[in-house]
Amino acid sequence: MGSKEKELFKVDDRLRSVAIIMDGNGRWAKKRLMPRTFGHKAGAAIIEKTLMTLKEMGVHHVTLYAFSTENWKRPKEEVDVIMNLVYKYLDEVVCDRIRKDPDFSMKFLGDKNALPEKLREKCIEVENMAKDTPFVCNLALNYGGRDDIVHAANELVRLGLPITEENISKYIYTAPSPDPDLIIRTGGDFRVSNFLLWQGAYSEYVILDTLWPDFSYEDIEKSFKEFYSRKRRFGGLNEGEEE
Ligand code: FPP
Repeated sequence: MGSKEKELFKVDDRLRSVAIIMDGNGRWAKKRLMPRTFGHKAGAAIIEKTLMTLKEMGVHHVTLYAFSTENWKRPKEEVDVIMNLVYKYLDEVVCDRIRKDPDFSMKFLGDKNALPEKLREKCIEVENMAKDTPFVCNLALNYGGRDDIVHAANELVRLGLPITEENISKYIYTAPSPDPDLIIRTGGDFRVSNFLLWQGAYSEYVILDTLWPDFSYEDIEKSFKEFYSRKRRFGGLNEGEEE
């Protein structure tokens, strides 16, 4: 990832929460005349390094879109490969990472009930290994932004709490992680794809042409520099913009 050759770009409090739509695995494989699943394997292989780089750069919350509520519509063979890749990644990489890194934990966004039993159990095991660490990876698995809001609203009804913005923010899947400051999408498409609809209300978006398996340190640095070049207003005005 090239992070060793030069000084690492460090973030400050303006950029502690980053989300990524990891798109382009299929096209990456197609370019190599290989099946789409080959791209997913390559995509899975770069996740650990990406997370460690972001952590070293000072990011505290990373949310990754691994599988959407709509992705079940893909051919069964492709879905099975992704589920197996996620299981293998959790079992071989994440469990090991949590054992050796007291600052790292992982949470899953989405309804786990629809996941294969073995994977569901592994997700629960991983979540129970560590909690509330300085660095958290939220892995969106069977996740949909609309489903997230409906789920939070149902929780509020069940608990007899009023449906307010503050309460929804407390019961969405990503809580207590702060809303993403930046959402990066690889693969070049300008689409939200039902990702973090609530949480992304004021996020900055950076769209990269890079296909996910090629995502590199340079892509992260470029996205972060782009983020810092923007003026965030959150619907208001910044100082000196009143006239
Ligand atoms: C989008 O690429 C990618 C996905 C739907 C799956 C993402 C899965 C991984 C990165 C690997 C497994 C995940 C983990 C956490 C180990 P696409 O297939 O839509 O690509 P395309 O737009 O080029 O067709």
